[in-house]
Amino acid sequence: MARKIVFTSGKGGVGKTTICAGVGKSLAKLGFRVLVADFDIGLNSMDIEMEILDKIQYDILDVLEGKCRPSQAIVEHEKILSLYILPSVHTFDIGKINLIDLKNVIENLSENFDFVLIDCPAGIEMGFHRAVCVADEAVVVTTPNIQAIRNANRVLSILNGFFQNLSLVINRVRKDFVQKKQIPLPQDISKALDADVLGVVFESDFILNGNLQKQDENCFVKIAQNIANGQVCKFQNLGNKKTWGNF
Ligand SMILES: Nc1ncnc2c1ncn2[C@@H]1O[C@H](COP(=O)(O)OP(=O)(O)OP(=O)(O)O)[C@@H](O)[C@H]1O
Ligand SMILES: [Mg+2]
Repeated sequence: MARKIVFTSGKGGVGKTTICAGVGKSLAKLGFRVLVADFDIGLNSMDIEMEILDKIQYDILDVLEGKCRPSQAIVEHEKILSLYILPSVHTFDIGKINLIDLKNVIENLSENFDFVLIDCPAGIEMGFHRAVCVADEAVVVTTPNIQAIRNANRVLSILNGFFQNLSLVINRVRKDFVQKKQIPLPQDISKALDADVLGVVFESDFILNGNLQKQDENCFVKIAQNIANGQVCKFQNLGNKKTWGNF
């Protein structure tokens, strides 16, 4: 039975889809069977992130409406073995989604995977609840700016009642900003939000262009390893001199 992990944030555009896709790819490369389920119905972008646009025949709504079997909707990643994607759809006519049916679909699918990663839409409305209710663990993605941290705090306080396994990924970190003390250290964000950090992803032009470099991939591999091993980042505190810790 797969571990079902939702990637959420509250604030839009902080990197949920990027991190969910990157971690999914890394977990698959580590040898796990991974299903990435796109729950951002209406404004989805996982199809672009996973380069499966031309392979989608059915989507999650077709499954729920009984037009196809889940296995017919799932797309196999072209380059990465054991990575599969359950696509979403660009429609706003989503009133008919039944949460129990959705939960059942994911529950049944999870028997065939080690991990089901769920890409959550922004906000804390219906789409958020839909994504959260099928998961049993959550990763909250934030960037190191005050607006995102405040929204992450709000989401963490909602999720605290639901999940025991709740952690953070801090995205778009610029080391030069940290050194100039223009943004908080990851360990300070962790402390402020009272949540463990699974990993840090640095700001990268290559991520923006969808063309990952080794150093970007390393960030995702470390997060994937921490998820697989049930570990979090250990921050070192050498007296008054805070360090970056072991990411
Ligand atoms: N570490 C990074 N460095 C540079 N660009 C990044 C990084 N992370 C994400 N981005 C870029 O930021 C944009 C938003 O990322 P993404 O779509 O993953 O956010 P999101 O939280 O899923 O957004 P939404 O709330 O709309 O679903 C994308 O163009 C993505 O390429
Ligand atoms: Mg997204």
